[in-house]
Amino acid sequence: MISITDSHKKLSISNLNEYPLLERQRPFIELMMKYNCALREVSTKFEVLDDEFSIRYNRNPVESIRTRIKSPRSIVEKLERKGYDVSIENIRDHIHDVAGARIICSFPEDIYMLAEMFMRQDDITVVEIKDYIKNPKPSGYRSYHLIIDIPVFLTESRETMRVEVQFRTIAMEFWASLEHKLKYKKDIDSPHAEEIAHQLKECSDRIAALDLEMQGIRNKIEE
Ligand code: GTP
Ligand code: MG
Repeated sequence: MISITDSHKKLSISNLNEYPLLERQRPFIELMMKYNCALREVSTKFEVLDDEFSIRYNRNPVESIRTRIKSPRSIVEKLERKGYDVSIENIRDHIHDVAGARIICSFPEDIYMLAEMFMRQDDITVVEIKDYIKNPKPSGYRSYHLIIDIPVFLTESRETMRVEVQFRTIAMEFWASLEHKLKYKKDIDSPHAEEIAHQLKECSDRIAALDLEMQGIRNKIEE
């Protein structure tokens, strides 16, 4: 039976050989299982950091952690868009965000602190850093992105898996989540498209100012 829970916490593949159609998908299912394990490793690392912070400094820099595995359809679409055949090897080599973890933090400074601590761990290899907080996207998108490699220990081997980790504050998540809904649910080819883009950017700037203000309040309290 195959069972994949919503939260990707558990994914089991037994009895696959009873279903010839599914048996052919075994390499793909195994690959997704490994990405899923990598996400659990990443989540645990942030849970550990947050736990230690809570005991040591009586505060929790991690608001929440969310993980997702890219859907098969999105994986295929992305490979085709990049001009690659659909194969296990091409997924591994050319799609960096099959496994995605989002770390929602309390304050902007927590993002850099947690990312530093995470990158310093000796089983993590940093592949790429994109700082859309210091350099927001023209849309107004703000987040700190890491592409990392992390080992997963399996029954007979150790495999290195790639994971995209996005760090944002609650405020940045608020903007990104609503902007995503506004943009993806409806076609913006209205005569107001330019005005809408401008407004979204303005909202993002105001939200970023609020983030800084809250950070300032916290720093005052901590003094
Ligand atoms: P993708 O092909 O979308 O993965 O883009 P990329 O490989 O160039 O990476 P990039 O760092 O630009 O974006 C990766 C992810 O960041 C996206 O999949 C989204 O989750 C998020 N993202 C990037 N830009 C925006 C944006 O303008 N709005 C929102 N809501 N999310 C964004
Ligand atoms: Mg992506």
